[in-house]
Amino acid sequence: MIPEHAYEGGHQSYWLASTEGTNYPRLDGDATVDVAVIGGGIAGLITAMLLKEEGKRVALIEAGRIVQRVTAHTTAKVTALHGLIYDYLVSNFDEETARLYGEANQAGLGLIASMVDRYKIDCDFVRTAAYTYTTEPDQVEKIEAEVEAARKAGLPVEFTRDCDLPFPIAGAIKLDWQAHFHPRKYLLGLAQLVEGDGSSIWEQTQALKVEDGKPCRVTTDRGVVTADAVVMATHFPFQDDAFYFARMAPHRSYVVAMTLDGPVPQGMYITPNSSHSIRSQPMQDGRQLLLVGGEGHQTGKVDDEPQRYQRIEKWARQHFPVKEVLYSWSTQDFGAFDRVPFIGLASPTAKHVYVATGFKGWGMTHGAAAGLLLSQTIVGKQSPWAKVFNPNRVELTGVADMVKSGLGVGKELVAGYLTPAKREDVPVGEGRIIKTDAGEEAVYRAPDGTIHAVSPVCTHMGCIVNWNAAERSWDCPCHGSRFGVDGEVLAGPAQKPLPLMDPSPAD
Ligand code: FES
Repeated sequence: MIPEHAYEGGHQSYWLASTEGTNYPRLDGDATVDVAVIGGGIAGLITAMLLKEEGKRVALIEAGRIVQRVTAHTTAKVTALHGLIYDYLVSNFDEETARLYGEANQAGLGLIASMVDRYKIDCDFVRTAAYTYTTEPDQVEKIEAEVEAARKAGLPVEFTRDCDLPFPIAGAIKLDWQAHFHPRKYLLGLAQLVEGDGSSIWEQTQALKVEDGKPCRVTTDRGVVTADAVVMATHFPFQDDAFYFARMAPHRSYVVAMTLDGPVPQGMYITPNSSHSIRSQPMQDGRQLLLVGGEGHQTGKVDDEPQRYQRIEKWARQHFPVKEVLYSWSTQDFGAFDRVPFIGLASPTAKHVYVATGFKGWGMTHGAAAGLLLSQTIVGKQSPWAKVFNPNRVELTGVADMVKSGLGVGKELVAGYLTPAKREDVPVGEGRIIKTDAGEEAVYRAPDGTIHAVSPVCTHMGCIVNWNAAERSWDCPCHGSRFGVDGEVLAGPAQKPLPLMDPSPAD
């Protein structure tokens, strides 16, 4: 069941609801370019644009339509202030790592601002301050530690109790001159600049295989693209040669967008544990939206997704004079085990294939920083941030052991989770994992009673998927793969759909 509200805009992202769709062509046959960029989100499009500015012929390859998936479901806070990251980085790495992380993200923000300005992209870009705030007096010490660490990292932050929120706070770290924007308006504007002069955007073209070499080859379902370098900017690297699935955890979070009876607070706010985030957004008709995010959890590990929207709304009504709830949406992101994204060569043996992933909910500045880092690397320049974001900074043999033990977990889940039932026992509009005489099944009964039955065994590594009632999808709790009700892959690392079950088993 999706949220019960009769929202004006419905259960969809405001970014998608307020922009037109795209209609770039499919690849038609083989092609040769200088760089192939796979993935039409913020990291892919900015990387493609920067490489085009460097004089490269670029092909941007997107399996669906550009800016439809993760980037279209963000809250689009363009900031280098990421909760309490700097104290963590100084404590677990060193001041230099924290400094380079901050510098890369400030540069990502600066790049977006300069492109908006240079190319006159109409995208509601607003400069504003970012805050990590708390209402709990016993959390103030953490905020103060973050102020100290962020200063060591070179960021002009301050401790404050003064902000635009309509309720008292115990303290906040404030970083001025950050920004928010409309991510689809920005990136659709950028896409128009990427296309042409020997560069292309190919939608509905699925990359199936990447082969490193001189040249590299990207095999797609529409032809083979030959290129000197390849960038995989597909949220999760669709070709995982370096155990990314075991080095990142998938995380789902929720957004509710509403109008207020009164002014919408200016600034961008997040609590230390990311339980709630707040920002404003101007609408086309002059109204202001308040976006409230939060209620995050590891993908596939809860069964109360619809209630999470309702809890956000309830929290918002306790703190703001909510007039009308207009939109709601959710997103999934991956975070690296050490909270630092993976941006660079895709594996220890890769020579010309790069990856950008693990943005942990901060994809706007990380995505832009990835574009800067990767475009510089590909044209032969050194990036000072390369060592911080190096995807191969961990010893992969240890990861391989984790993978082996993880395989057992999936099998145990298969054996222990299922209870006997008939497909018709599944309530209309809901999904259940059942065990019939024909075997284990993930069954969804549509509102009209139609039964959709697929295998519940994730095609990645064999864990059992869980029903996500808010998004009507089957989500894997192990590494975050997501599947539609007919088994189609919505998000990797899985590449193959869940097999359809016999339409009429002997129940
Ligand atoms: Fe890895 Fe499902 S087993 S995503």
